[in-house]
Amino acid sequence: MALFGGYASDLEAQDTDALIQQGKYVAEASDCSACHTVNGRQEFSGGMEFKLPVGTIYSSNITPDPVHGIGAYSEEEFSRAVREGVRRDGASLYPAMPFPSYARMSNGDIHALYVYFMKSVKPVAQAVPANGIPWPLSIRMPMTLWRAVFSPSVTSAWKDVNRSFPSEDIARGAYLVEGPGHCGACHSPRGMALQEKALSNGSGTLFLSGGAAIDGFIPTSLRQDQRRGLAGWSEDDIVEFLSKGRNRHGEAFGGMTDAIFHGTQHLTDADLHAIAQYLLSLQPHDLSVAKWQYDPSAAKALQAGDASAQGAKVYVDHCAACHRTDGHGYAPAFPPLAGNPVVMSDDPASLVHVVQSGAILPGMTKAPSAFAMPAYRQMLSNQQIADVVTFIRKSWGNNAAAVTAETVKALEKSAPAPVLQSKNLPLN
Ligand code: HEC
Ligand code: HEC
Ligand code: HEC
Repeated sequence: MALFGGYASDLEAQDTDALIQQGKYVAEASDCSACHTVNGRQEFSGGMEFKLPVGTIYSSNITPDPVHGIGAYSEEEFSRAVREGVRRDGASLYPAMPFPSYARMSNGDIHALYVYFMKSVKPVAQAVPANGIPWPLSIRMPMTLWRAVFSPSVTSAWKDVNRSFPSEDIARGAYLVEGPGHCGACHSPRGMALQEKALSNGSGTLFLSGGAAIDGFIPTSLRQDQRRGLAGWSEDDIVEFLSKGRNRHGEAFGGMTDAIFHGTQHLTDADLHAIAQYLLSLQPHDLSVAKWQYDPSAAKALQAGDASAQGAKVYVDHCAACHRTDGHGYAPAFPPLAGNPVVMSDDPASLVHVVQSGAILPGMTKAPSAFAMPAYRQMLSNQQIADVVTFIRKSWGNNAAAVTAETVKALEKSAPAPVLQSKNLPLN
């Protein structure tokens, strides 16, 4: 029996296989796997660690096992958990589960998702570790208050979904980005209570204007911001990045790799173009930033053998083989550093962390080769890292502020583990 009045008749008309296919696609578009699957364990069996200010929690087992998973959930209970953050027993979930975005999901997509989890995901009888949040914070009452204040009801989220858009494609893109894709969970700034300051473009230009560091890496602005955002990216550039994790401007790392690996690489071209068209429609948040323009003087100096600028020698010795003296790299294998928002960001955390810990881009279905940037923490001193980072921030028209050795030292604490392995990707 379908649950929701208005949608019931057309849902019942669809056969189960088609619903399972649709539900699998919605699960990919929503990235459920990125948080509910730990590398080396069964899909959706949970147990991924989330370090919150109040303590550590673990994602739930969402396989249909009746004891350890969500096998006992009715469709209505499932819908409340996914869209409103309420567990079957009535307790509130922590918003590490992105229900404030999922609130926008349509009844049709939720129904398909439910059928997919119940009918085709394999039940796994395995408990996840108990949360490490000390009493009294472990009482979930404060989260109920949080939900009431910061998370939209499904009805109000839908009002926003149904605002007017310039085209049907842009409306679809907005649905995917603001709803299932929950891009804002990483790419929007958060307030004092860790709530996203805007949950859709309908509430202003803070939405997707850049977020706080996740595992040490800063999600950049996805708006048309100069230097910090996607100004300069074409529709095809965005589609290529979201399907392959690489394009002529940059390569994915950190949480974005997970978002592409588990999520966007599985989307249809039509949906990726819809997302790109929607992102291209977003006004800049900060209109005061000047356009980036390539300045050839640093390249000319290096090519003439002049490495007297701060950090130039470290760059030539350790970086130029891949990123080149002109800063253009060899995209898509080695990303350009000239004009790259990661390099020009006000906050140098991502940049310093990439140099300290390296990064790896795994192969994707449509781009099977993997590329790695080495970790330099063992090889270079804090002063040398500060120098080289300052060099790439000053060169090629990037014109960003210098970084000191003290900053590099302070960032060591929040540096991700040096790669060649990432916690949740099947790499060897
Ligand atoms: C960004 C990480 C993240 C994503 C993406 C995510 N979840 Fe979760 N989910 C969590 C965490 C963490 C919890 C546990 C929260 C808690 O204990 O308060 C959770 C809890 C749940 C629960 C509650 C189960 C229970 O009884 O404990 C359900 C159901 C659920 N998620 C389903 C989904 C589905 C379906 C998707 C995709 C549409 C999804 N989640 C995507 C992090 C995530
Ligand atoms: C788990 C956190 C997370 C989620 C979810 C996420 N991103 Fe990202 N994203 C990042 C981080 C961190 C970066 C910076 C690292 C990089 O450039 O890959 C980034 C970078 C990007 C870039 C490259 C920007 C540049 O200038 O190089 C694009 C485009 C992007 N994200 C689009 C999206 C879209 C669209 C979604 C939703 C479908 C999304 N992201 C969801 C964390 C996330
Ligand atoms: C062996 C080739 C190689 C060398 C040497 C190298 N890099 Fe990289 N670099 C890469 C690759 C590949 C990526 C993309 C990694 C990813 O996305 O996971 C990258 C990414 C980056 C990024 C992030 C840009 C983006 O859009 O992904 C920065 C910044 C960077 N490197 C700076 C440096 C600096 C500074 C040095 C020298 C200290 C250096 N690299 C040395 C290959 C290299």
